Amino acid sequence: MAIAKKKVTKPIAKKSVVTTKKVSAQKTENPSSDDFWKYAPAPESKDHVTLKEKYDLYIGGKFVKPNSGKYYETINPASGEVIAKIADGNEKDIHLAVTAARKAYDQHWGKLPGKERAKYIFRIARMMQERAREFAVIETMNGGKPIRESRDIDIPLAANHFFYYAGWADKLDYAFPNAKPKSLGVAGQIIPWNFPLLMAAWKLAPALATGNTVVLKPAESTPLTALKLAELIHDAGVPEGVVNIVTGFGPAGASLVNHPGIDKIAFTGSTPVGKYIQKAIAGTPKKATLELGGKAAHIIFDDAPIDQAVEGIVNGIFFNQGHVCCAGSRLFIQENVAELVIRKLKQRMKTLIVGDPMDKNTDIGAINSKEQMDKINQYIKIGIKEGAEIYQPECALPAKGFFCKPTLFLHTSQSHRIVQEEIFGPVLAVQTFRTLEEVIEKANNIPYGLSAGVWTDKGSKIFNLTTQLRAGVVWANTYNKFDPASPFGGYKESGFGREGGLHGLYPYVSLQS
Ligand code: NAI
Ligand code: MG
Repeated sequence: MAIAKKKVTKPIAKKSVVTTKKVSAQKTENPSSDDFWKYAPAPESKDHVTLKEKYDLYIGGKFVKPNSGKYYETINPASGEVIAKIADGNEKDIHLAVTAARKAYDQHWGKLPGKERAKYIFRIARMMQERAREFAVIETMNGGKPIRESRDIDIPLAANHFFYYAGWADKLDYAFPNAKPKSLGVAGQIIPWNFPLLMAAWKLAPALATGNTVVLKPAESTPLTALKLAELIHDAGVPEGVVNIVTGFGPAGASLVNHPGIDKIAFTGSTPVGKYIQKAIAGTPKKATLELGGKAAHIIFDDAPIDQAVEGIVNGIFFNQGHVCCAGSRLFIQENVAELVIRKLKQRMKTLIVGDPMDKNTDIGAINSKEQMDKINQYIKIGIKEGAEIYQPECALPAKGFFCKPTLFLHTSQSHRIVQEEIFGPVLAVQTFRTLEEVIEKANNIPYGLSAGVWTDKGSKIFNLTTQLRAGVVWANTYNKFDPASPFGGYKESGFGREGGLHGLYPYVSLQS
């Protein structure tokens, strides 16, 4: 590991040429504690990655040019550099993709026995594992998230989703006792930029396992791993038209939602677009699952293991730049330990490394886009204007790209906008509470209900809270942990329907008795 303090390691590395006198002079030098914790740069290599200059749409088993003839540039948000040109898909491309998906469903995939579908899905999972390093580097280059996260979380979890649902493909009759599950037909899937490959896996794996064909629209700012996935799916020999990937902007997504040829829409993204989709499909037979915004309550009781809880708070909001719909963005600390928790949290924030996402030591990478950066900065201004006390550790941000310091807002209240609205950045609003009843009331007093976290030594408090918090996922003495076998989804304006686990199969089938 490249961790040692530079001034100590250098003389050791050059020991054949350094005199004894010089070495001892260096060794006795007393580094300041700040310097001691500086890590030497440890950038991940990009050499094994091959990217094309220009990417077309993947429709009917072929890479085809967009109807408009237009391409847009996709950038690396950590540097602003253009990485590739991406096809700007429109309504006509969506129509071609839906037609290809319908043909594949009617002629082949819809009739294929589960055990045959499973073989393809297992193959996708294995090939993703084999190419994991390449996927991780591209995810970080295009999305800005630290390589440590794309390497250790996003890509392995994406492969695991394909493994998990491949296992269900020939066992669907056991998933729904006394009912016969039938695939729906063509699924339209629209995904966001915060977990580009993982969200593609969450959507594709259960759809394919249940016998549906798919048209997937990646987010405009992070299309590259989905396009790499198109290449992988092609190499895996998945029959043409079973998976179609159409890149483009909001209007391409809207065309997919409104296309009469789709049977189901699966969407992850902002609450306003979720509401638009619900209105657009009202009165049609289209099924939908919507996974929307969040503003999770992260609750710390006085009997919690404080050091672990502080680590959980940091993991919950600062890692992945707070670009997580289930981010623990509202912190509730029991009053008698508030001072201690805040002191430790500030100390920990000082050690967070903000910078080059390709560096293996980086904790907080680049904000995904200029739009998102502007939104976060605007909320930071709002927080200050609302009278909350701001804390940001001193750290130099890279000159290029979009970066944000980890930010704490103290003395916030329920009525503050920074407490009520989704910021989607490394910004944490802190409140205190005295009783269990008070914190439940405050935690639930919000339009969202995606997730929550609780830290306490007492099991009974955990059970009490999990039954009373209006949130789809409640983590206890941990945070942001995912498993393909666990369902995920929200209450209230965080959407409806579940993804993951046995529950994640249900939105892709109709049950016949
Ligand atoms: P968005 O909801 O606009 O984008 C998500 C996906 O929907 C993208 O693929 C986009 O092209 C597509 N889309 C946009 N308009 C559409 C429409 N009318 N019909 C169909 N598809 C459409 O999210 P955006 O603008 O990228 O981010 C805005 C805010 O949304 C963020 O600041 C964050 O607060 C929230 N967000 C929440 C996410 C979550 O996981 N729940 C993910 C991404 C953003
Ligand atoms: Mg939008």
